[in-house]
Amino acid sequence: MRSAAMVHLLCAAILGAFGVSLVVADDPYRFYTWTVTYGTVAPLGDPQQVILINGQFPGPKLEVVTNDNIVLNLINKLDQPFLLTWNGIKQRKNSWQDGVLGTNCPIPPNSNYTYNFQTKDQIGTFTYFPSTSFHKAAGGFGAISIYQRPLIPIPFPNPDGDFTLLAGDWYKTNHKTLQRLVDSGRPLPSPDGVLINGQAHSTFSCDQGKTYMFRISNVGLSTSLNFRIQGHAMKLVEVEGSHTIQNMYDSLDVHVGQSVAVLVTLNQAPKDYYIVASTRFMKTVLTATATLHYTNSLAAVSGPLPVGPTYQIHWSVEQARTFRWNLTASAARPNPQGSFHYGEITPSRTIQLANSAPLINGKRRFAVNGVSYVNADTPLKLADYFNIPGVFSTSSIQTFPTRSAASIATSVMPASLHEFIEIVFQNNERTVQSWHLDGYDFWVVGYGFGRWTPTSRRKYNLVDSLTRHTAQVYPNSWTSILVSLDNQGMWNLRSANWERQYLGQQFYLRVWNPVTSLSNEYNAPSNILLCGKAAGHHP
Ligand SMILES: *[C@@H]1O[C@H](CO)[C@@H](O)[C@H](O)[C@H]1NC(C)=O
Ligand SMILES: *[C@@H]1O[C@H](CO)[C@@H](O)[C@H](O)[C@H]1NC(C)=O
Repeated sequence: MRSAAMVHLLCAAILGAFGVSLVVADDPYRFYTWTVTYGTVAPLGDPQQVILINGQFPGPKLEVVTNDNIVLNLINKLDQPFLLTWNGIKQRKNSWQDGVLGTNCPIPPNSNYTYNFQTKDQIGTFTYFPSTSFHKAAGGFGAISIYQRPLIPIPFPNPDGDFTLLAGDWYKTNHKTLQRLVDSGRPLPSPDGVLINGQAHSTFSCDQGKTYMFRISNVGLSTSLNFRIQGHAMKLVEVEGSHTIQNMYDSLDVHVGQSVAVLVTLNQAPKDYYIVASTRFMKTVLTATATLHYTNSLAAVSGPLPVGPTYQIHWSVEQARTFRWNLTASAARPNPQGSFHYGEITPSRTIQLANSAPLINGKRRFAVNGVSYVNADTPLKLADYFNIPGVFSTSSIQTFPTRSAASIATSVMPASLHEFIEIVFQNNERTVQSWHLDGYDFWVVGYGFGRWTPTSRRKYNLVDSLTRHTAQVYPNSWTSILVSLDNQGMWNLRSANWERQYLGQQFYLRVWNPVTSLSNEYNAPSNILLCGKAAGHHP
C-alpha cells in the first residue's frame, strides 16, 4: 500500500510540475500477491518439476486496462533467486521495474519484492516470464492482456469472447539440468514437444455464428511456431500493441517472444476442429493440437491436421511484410496510430548488430558485435544510480560489427534521450533470430536477404510498418527497425532465444540525459532490493 501511495504522490508531483489535469492520478490501482513455487505436472506424460505461480501452470493472466497501476508482490519460494520480466510493458520512465538482472536484484529465496508499474498508453497482447537462470524452461510465464479504456474506439466489433493461447516448445528435462548443459558448453538439445497453455491438448468452447479473439503468444525457449485452425480463417487485428490492417490468414508464424491477436468467426458446420501449433525451421516437426469446440457440435475432431509451412523461409518473409499498421485506427490513445509519421524522420545514426556463435576460452558462447554479455553481480541500473564504478563497460560493444576476436564483457551501449535511431540486425548465421528491446516498441521497416547495405533502405516500408517489441531476423538476412528513444533508462536488448541470451547475445542500451529530472525518469523505488556492490547503499 505504501509504495502505491508513493506513486500517487509522484504522479501528483509530476503533474503539478507540468500543470496538467489530474486525470492520470485517478488511474486505478490493481493489487496482486503472487507466490512462486515448484510443483509437479506431466504435460508430456512424464511427471516433471515446473514453476507455478499461485499454484497455476502457466501463471495467472494479468487482465488490465490502459494506464492501470499494478502493484504486484512477488514472493519467491524457489530454492534460487528469481525475477519476472513484463515482456512488452514499456515501463515508462521506470526501468526500475523491468525485472531483468541489469535493472533489478533478483529476489532471494523465501523473500519478496513488490513491483509497481503502470501500463501507460498501452493496449494489446503481451506476456511475462522468468528472466533468471533457465527458469523459463520450467514455466512461470503467463499472459498480459491490456484492454482499451471505455471511451477509446477499437477498430473491430467487440468479440464475443477472448481466449489466450500461450504456446511454446517444451522440454521434459529439468531446468537446472538444461542450464548445466549449456553452462558446460554443450548445445541445448531439440525440444521434446510443444505445449498450448501448459498442456498437450486443450479445448476452447465457442458458439456457432459468434466471433472470438484468440491472443496467441510464443512463450517457448527457441522455436518459431506456425498456428492454424482447421476450416477457419484468422483475421489479424493486433500485434504487440499495434492495431493492424485486418488481413485474413490460413496460418500465422509467431516467433519466440512475439504475440498476435486474431478474430475467428465460427462460420462452419457444428463440429469440433483442430487448432494446431507446429514448429518451424526444424528437421523434425513437433506439433501441439487443441480443439475448437462448437457448443452445438455434432462430431468430434477428425480428419488430417491442416497443413502448414515447415521450412519455407520465403513464405515467412512474405507474410511478415503483410503485417502493417492501420494508420486510421487508434491504439491506447484517442488519436490515430498513423499520426506519428515515423517515415518522415531522419534517424540520427545507424546501429548495426551482428549475432555470432564464437568459442571463447574454448567454450561455446553467443555474442553481439563480437561481445558476449555476462551479468554483473550488481544491476547496472543500481551501479549507475549509486555511482559505483567498474560494474559495466560502455566501450566494449561497438555500434557496428567488428573483425576482432570475440570477448566477454558486461556491455552497455550509450544513447541519448530523444534520439531517433535505425538499428539493423544482421544475421550471418543459419538460424532464425528473434530480437527483443525492453522499454520500447519499434517500427519494423524492412526484412531482406543477404547483407544489409545503405541501398537496402530503398526497400523500407516508411508508411505503414507496425510497431512491436520483438522482431525476427531470417537466416543469412537482415531486419531493420526504427526506434524513438523517448524512454530514459537502462534497457535490455536481447535475443529472445533463451540459450542465446543466457550465453551472451544481449547487452544494455543506456538511454540517458545529463539533466536529472522526474519528468524523464522516476526515482528509485522505496522498496528497492540491493545486492552486489549496491548492498548497503541507501536510495
Ligand atoms: C514484501 O511484502 C511485504 C508485505 O507482505 C511488503 O510490505 C514489502 O514491501 C515487500 N518487500 C518488498 C521489497 O517489496
Ligand atoms: C482500420 O481501422 C478503421 C477504424 O479506424 C476500421 O474502420 C477499418 O476497417 C480498418 N481498416 C483495415 C483495412 O483493417
